[in-house]
Amino acid sequence: MPDRIRVMIVDDIAETREQLRKLLSFDPDVEVVAMVSTGEDAVRVVAADNPDVVLMDVNLPGMDGIAATSKIIEIRPTVQVIMLSVQGETDYLRRAMMAGARDYLTKPPGADELMDAIHRAHKLRQQMGPGMVRSQPGGSGDLPPEQRSKGALQAKVVTVFSPKGGTGCTTLAVNLAIALQGLLGTERRVCLIDGNLQFGDVSIFMKLQASLTMIDLAPHAHDLDPDLLNTVLVTHESGLKVLVAPPTPEDAEVLREEGVEENGANTRFRAILEFMEPLFDYIIVDTAHQVDDMLLALMDKSDLLMVVTRPVIPEIRGARIFVELLHKLSYDLNKVGLVINCADNKRMGIQPEAIEKAMMPALIHLPFDERTALRAANLGEPVMPRSSRTPLGQGFTAFAEKVHARVHKPVEEEMPEPEPQRRAGLGRLL
Ligand SMILES: Nc1ncnc2c1ncn2[C@@H]1O[C@H](COP(=O)(O)OP(=O)(O)OP(=O)(O)O)[C@@H](O)[C@H]1O
Ligand SMILES: [Mg+2]
Repeated sequence: MPDRIRVMIVDDIAETREQLRKLLSFDPDVEVVAMVSTGEDAVRVVAADNPDVVLMDVNLPGMDGIAATSKIIEIRPTVQVIMLSVQGETDYLRRAMMAGARDYLTKPPGADELMDAIHRAHKLRQQMGPGMVRSQPGGSGDLPPEQRSKGALQAKVVTVFSPKGGTGCTTLAVNLAIALQGLLGTERRVCLIDGNLQFGDVSIFMKLQASLTMIDLAPHAHDLDPDLLNTVLVTHESGLKVLVAPPTPEDAEVLREEGVEENGANTRFRAILEFMEPLFDYIIVDTAHQVDDMLLALMDKSDLLMVVTRPVIPEIRGARIFVELLHKLSYDLNKVGLVINCADNKRMGIQPEAIEKAMMPALIHLPFDERTALRAANLGEPVMPRSSRTPLGQGFTAFAEKVHARVHKPVEEEMPEPEPQRRAGLGRLL
């Protein structure tokens, strides 16, 4: 049969190899073409024989399964490696995925899950084609066919920023992203990035369990592939994809290992953003409250840079100084949107109109709705879509509609691009 899936088994225990071979003999689409006991042999056979799928034990004497996988992917980028391990630990999973493994099964695998994994991996190999390497977008089975080629989409990037903490940025970013996904439907791709590297809490606001985060992408920032990205992204029940922030503040350093560009933008984060842009309709980014290398990377890429303030003097002052800074740098102010959160909170004392007069007309006023906001934060259940009828929920629906209208307004209304030499000044300013 010419089209059978050619599988190699790598395990140092003869009995395990035999068990796997027996399991696979029940699948008429699968042919076991080699069984070897070491990582070194596995690499040799792959070089000579180019199997479709490799079942790789993690624990091997000498070159272990993870090192062998790296080597195999290096010499044959389209070979699909499925890792097998007795340990179900996330650390193995992470290292296996980093090495380029396509899937990860706990030993002993069930017959169905093994066959499914092999067929899935084989399908991906066919999609990659013989000449395609992993670093090219287009290998992912998770992406609809029309989005498998680079440039099929160009995401609108919406950044949510506030110079002061506690203004509601994370609440706004999370719920805007969910509301946009709801507005566009699950066919469209919306991604939320937690760009607050040190104290990002998007995963808390959404009660998401992420074993992989942005730090797992960072070392591969310049040779990402859609499958690695999909492995790291977490899917929320709304269909929204989420790129979670590093688990601890010190982990964030891996993103800074390549430093910054001439204009101050974080090199790795910029590369990650550029890779993601053609794969999504929208990318929403929550940020830390400082003008740093992360924000500079985002400013370049943003179609809309949202500045959030509540009606209290220190926050308004911070927002105003930030907008003035943008103005001094000739940043295109058409891309800036003011959001007044808790706009109707009488106790805060300042009229939203006075803020607009001091700065610019607001894109939206969001209501003060302590009950809804606090409940959402404490339970890790976003306001959207469950509480869309609350005052804050209605505010988020309107917010998503306004953002969508704003970033899709006709091009001719926009102001000219700022001069590049003046933008370079921001890097020096920091
Ligand atoms: N419109 C609102 N009405 C009432 N409370 C709100 C509103 N928006 C946000 N909050 C509450 O304000 C608090 C801070 O919100 P959030 O964490 O989203 O702000 P942040 O700017 O991201 O803060 P951080 O400095 O932690 O990054 C949360 O308890 C949240 O529930
Ligand atoms: Mg926050």
